[in-house]
Amino acid sequence: MTVLFADVVHSMDIARLVGAERLREIMAQLVKCVNSVIQRYGGTVGSFTGDGVMAIFGAPTALEDHAIRACLAALAIQEEAKQLAVEVQTRDDVELLLRVGLNSGQVIAGEIASGPFGYTTIGEHVGMAQRMESVAPPGGVMLSASTARLVDGVAALGEPEVVRIKGSEEPVPARQLLGMNQHRGVKRAESNLVGRRWEISAVAGLLDRAVDGHGGVVGVVGPPGIGKSRLVREVAAMAAQRGVEVFTAFCESHTSQVPFQVVTRLMRAATGVEGLESEAARAIARNQFSDAEAEDSLLFEDLLGIGDPSASAPRIDPDARRRRLTAMVNAASLATETTAVYVVEDAHWIDEVSESMLTDFLTVVPQTPLLTLVTYRPEYRGALAQVPGAKTIALAPLSDSETAALVSGLLGPDPSVVGLGQMIADRASGTPFFAEEIVRDLADRGVLQGNPGAYMSTAEAAEVSVPPTLQATIAARIDRLDPKAKRTLSAAAVVRSRFGSDLLDALGVDPVVADLLAAQLIDQVRFTGQPEYVFHNPLIRTVAYEAQLKSDRAELHRRVAAAIERQTARSLDENAALIAEHLEAAGDLHAAFDWHMRAGAWSNNRDITAARVSWERSRRVADALPGEGPDRIAMRIAPRTALCATDWRVHADDSGVRFEELRELCALAGDKTSFAIAIGGPMAGHAQRGEVRDSRRLASEQMALFESIGDPSLTAQAGILAIGIKAQTGDLDEVLRWAQATTDWADGDPAKGNLVVGSPLAVALSLRGLARSWFGRSGWREDFDQAVAFAERSADPLTLAVTVSWVYGMGTWNGVLRADDAAVGTTESALQTAEASGDNYAVVMVKWLLGCVLLLRDSEGDQHRGLELLTQIRDTFIQQRILLAEIPVLDVYLGREQARGGDRDGGIPVIRRSVDDMSTRGQVGYYIAATGVLVETLLSRGAAVDLEEAEAVISRLEAAPAEASVIRDIWVLRLRALLARANGDKSGYLDCRGRYRALATSLGFEGHVAWVEAMP
Ligand SMILES: Nc1ncnc2c1ncn2[C@@H]1O[C@H](COP(=O)(O)OP(=O)(O)OP(=O)(O)O)[C@@H](O)[C@H]1O
Ligand SMILES: [Mg+2]
Repeated sequence: MTVLFADVVHSMDIARLVGAERLREIMAQLVKCVNSVIQRYGGTVGSFTGDGVMAIFGAPTALEDHAIRACLAALAIQEEAKQLAVEVQTRDDVELLLRVGLNSGQVIAGEIASGPFGYTTIGEHVGMAQRMESVAPPGGVMLSASTARLVDGVAALGEPEVVRIKGSEEPVPARQLLGMNQHRGVKRAESNLVGRRWEISAVAGLLDRAVDGHGGVVGVVGPPGIGKSRLVREVAAMAAQRGVEVFTAFCESHTSQVPFQVVTRLMRAATGVEGLESEAARAIARNQFSDAEAEDSLLFEDLLGIGDPSASAPRIDPDARRRRLTAMVNAASLATETTAVYVVEDAHWIDEVSESMLTDFLTVVPQTPLLTLVTYRPEYRGALAQVPGAKTIALAPLSDSETAALVSGLLGPDPSVVGLGQMIADRASGTPFFAEEIVRDLADRGVLQGNPGAYMSTAEAAEVSVPPTLQATIAARIDRLDPKAKRTLSAAAVVRSRFGSDLLDALGVDPVVADLLAAQLIDQVRFTGQPEYVFHNPLIRTVAYEAQLKSDRAELHRRVAAAIERQTARSLDENAALIAEHLEAAGDLHAAFDWHMRAGAWSNNRDITAARVSWERSRRVADALPGEGPDRIAMRIAPRTALCATDWRVHADDSGVRFEELRELCALAGDKTSFAIAIGGPMAGHAQRGEVRDSRRLASEQMALFESIGDPSLTAQAGILAIGIKAQTGDLDEVLRWAQATTDWADGDPAKGNLVVGSPLAVALSLRGLARSWFGRSGWREDFDQAVAFAERSADPLTLAVTVSWVYGMGTWNGVLRADDAAVGTTESALQTAEASGDNYAVVMVKWLLGCVLLLRDSEGDQHRGLELLTQIRDTFIQQRILLAEIPVLDVYLGREQARGGDRDGGIPVIRRSVDDMSTRGQVGYYIAATGVLVETLLSRGAAVDLEEAEAVISRLEAAPAEASVIRDIWVLRLRALLARANGDKSGYLDCRGRYRALATSLGFEGHVAWVEAMP
């Protein structure tokens, strides 16, 4: 235990100056402050000695960290005194200063049994504390050697000094207390650990391996109160003893839907930014990630919630954002050489986004020196419970003898408690928390008298009733609280598992925490600054939450929402999801709906999964609302629209039902616009998966809807994807119509409208150029040039990617353009733009284009690079399940390279299959040139069957549904010429070649002009 002694400097002088009456008043005020400080830190106020105060920490209840608590209390007392001194100075014009002295010593059990302040034989310790007080500088705190030793490391101490004390011959060593280091909370008083030896040594073994650089993941699973958190705390203590840092994040039941909660908390803890001002926090984070690119740092700060409000968040594709954050966290973990323990507590309440990010993170853990512990209850079956390579520790109930040991430790050796102990052990059935709660319950009720670990029973076991379950036991204890304390606990249960009194204040609850601390329903975890508390166990929170009247709880939720809104006015979007949760729990469904939608909109550019969680919540709220008015239908439509439109981005496979619901709702409300936008989702989904016919059907439906709505701006902006599909399927007349309408609507302004892409005009011009070249109309070249110029100027990665793909991808593929230096240069710089933005989709698209363009070049180096790029991009398509419709084209390129490399027998079937594929899927826009490649490759092999097949393939092309396409005409001419030559039909060859040359020249198709020049 540690004794604290505080006294006023020169109190006699003060009395003389202000009079005894006033001095008593001042002292009363001082004592009041001091008392509350001492209580806050778990001390007990002792007898008064005139103008001083004595307090004891660590007795009668043992506290492991009594010295630390006493130091914190001493500093807090000086703070309070300083404030009071200001008042006294102005009013009485005297200086009020305090001295504080501390001393620690052993207490022998039994010495203090005679009541709270029967400290007769510990007078010696008190005497030393008093002497320390007498040599402390005014306003300062002096520690005896024994206290100094106990807080070394956590406290900032002055140089060791030797002081002379009145009435004592020998000088004694002492040190001044200057302050406390950043302190990670004070450990609670706990029952002695029983059992769990095997579990602890298993984790100790893994910690050893982590120290050696081979990290691991441990799942700790078991029912409530079985000891998961306790096991983790034991591990943490063991780690701390070895100098290993431990970072913990708790998942919470109320916030399980709030995205990023857990990752954010864990990262805040691990980076050490918790509790810092955002500027200081940024400096620390930057220091740790000094290698990171500027933009990555911004993303990371945004995640930690310490972003600079004046800097705009980077514009970045949400998937890319998630990937980059994960990559950053992983890279930092891989680079770290310091062993640490990460703890994720109560994973059964984790939010979806944190869950998936952590799962990614856990895959790299084995290559790092990090040990990660995840605790969860058995009902959790999520990803964190199934990490490959993770060890699982399932905590079984304690054995009978272990339970008996635990109970007897709680009760003590008095013969009167033996019978009761037996009953408690039976009832607790191996759940340690149950045993603890029964004992507390009995002590509350006065059945047990005395102190923890030294009780006496006033009743026979047979006469004592005990609530049947752990929950009921806790409920009974809560029920007995004084109304104010109970109200505090109720409010705290609504807030979150970690709470400060400031938020409770904001709720209009007058917080009474002392009783709750004493009853061990809550523990204090932060002593410096604004104190913070946690529930002793999540179950207590659950019971405290559920014990309330629904209406009371709703009111509290409403006030929490309002308080958060007030307190975080500058980061409302970030807190929208949390506010929505509380409002929903409060039953304010309309308001909750709006906040969920706001949260969804905010997350849309940050994390699509998070956004969808919010929309899903909005949907549920809207569905739960009563009535059938137009407002409600609109509310049911809005989140469904957002969900349907983004289903493809998360590869949702359950989208059909919702889409049909939306169709009905939109029909009911006459809301064509929402429905038209929502169609974009399944349409894109089909397109990405390569289901071209389905995507074409929906594209037609969508365009028809847009046209019937008759809003040119909507059509121009939202129709971009549908029209792209039409270009692929050879419906170039529709493409031309849309492109013309969009060009007219944009009226020369490339920045107009940015719903889907940054510059609809640039994309429209590229597609008009494509359509014009398809039909052999003039103006395509100007369109292409202008499209590229606008796209480059827009600097929007997606605009640029789409535009250059239409211009150079289709242009060179059809033979309209050549893969010249300009094409390569423009594509390369588009890739740079895309990569810098992190827009994953744009990057993939431009890489794909660059590969194609390079393969059409003459230089071997270019071809080599092109082949590498395409091989790589093919894997990307498949892994990310995007752009699968492009695979046949890609395979045509790859098949041709294979044949060109000498393996014709291998390459031809690849090309043939791809061409057939395109024909089945109706990819008319791609099919023509692909047929050309097939014929050329067949002719290069030149067997009789090849020539026959070439003839058949050309005939099929002539019959293809590509009416009025000069692209088809020019390719047919080219292929007919090549076939005639292969057949030895000289005049046929010359005739076809002549017509081919004439057409190529008249159309100005550079690719074909070059090819015809190369024909002998
Ligand atoms: N082996 C043990 N020996 C002594 N006390 C124990 C032991 N295991 C757990 N306890 C005590 O039981 C109480 C409940 O344990 P703990 O909080 O670890 O449960 P939990 O499994 O984490 O429950 P929850 O799922 O509700 O979080 C704690 O006060 C803890 O100190
Ligand atoms: Mg726990």
